[in-house]
Amino acid sequence: MTHAIASPLPQPILPIIRMGHPTLRRVAEPVSFPLSENLKQLADTMVATMLAAPGVGLAAPQVNVPLRMLVYSVPAARIDDDQKVQPLGPQVLINPELKPLSDDIEYGPEGCLSIPGLKGQVPRYTHLGYRGMDLDGQTVEGEAFGFHARVLQHEVDHLDGVLYLDRMDDMESLAYLDVLMELEADAAAQALADHEACEED
Ligand code: NI
Repeated sequence: MTHAIASPLPQPILPIIRMGHPTLRRVAEPVSFPLSENLKQLADTMVATMLAAPGVGLAAPQVNVPLRMLVYSVPAARIDDDQKVQPLGPQVLINPELKPLSDDIEYGPEGCLSIPGLKGQVPRYTHLGYRGMDLDGQTVEGEAFGFHARVLQHEVDHLDGVLYLDRMDDMESLAYLDVLMELEADAAAQALADHEACEED
């Protein structure tokens, strides 16, 4: 029986713990190799949980497993026109290490599955090197830019008990998603009304 064939059984989805749970504030333990079957299964289930949420990243502490393992993706829709960022399907990174390769910092919006309903502007390095292991214990390394670098910094922070709120330096940008959506809908309706008024002139 092969593993990758779509199963008629739905993938189990793990509960995601929310801010206030002490596991989110612990420094997670390194993973040792070879990986147990349980941990390989956990990586699969974390990917399914991330996709179902939906989210673009999930660290093991968020499913109450205090180990240095994370999953993430870089959806094409999140890249804008940054030529240096390539879309990536679901990735698993174990015992990751990050190293900034430039002092450049960029503010960008972030949310977190452990802090649902909120979004804020977070400063992050725009270019970094990363290194970690895959499920087979092979080294995975590369350079990440833009959104890719942002996701990695957010998820690796989870392994150190750090949440994006801790990284914010302008709390005025923190907002409820539903409030932002209401404002956007109002602005779109206003723009449409202005446009129609224009055409009547
Ligand atoms: Ni998060």
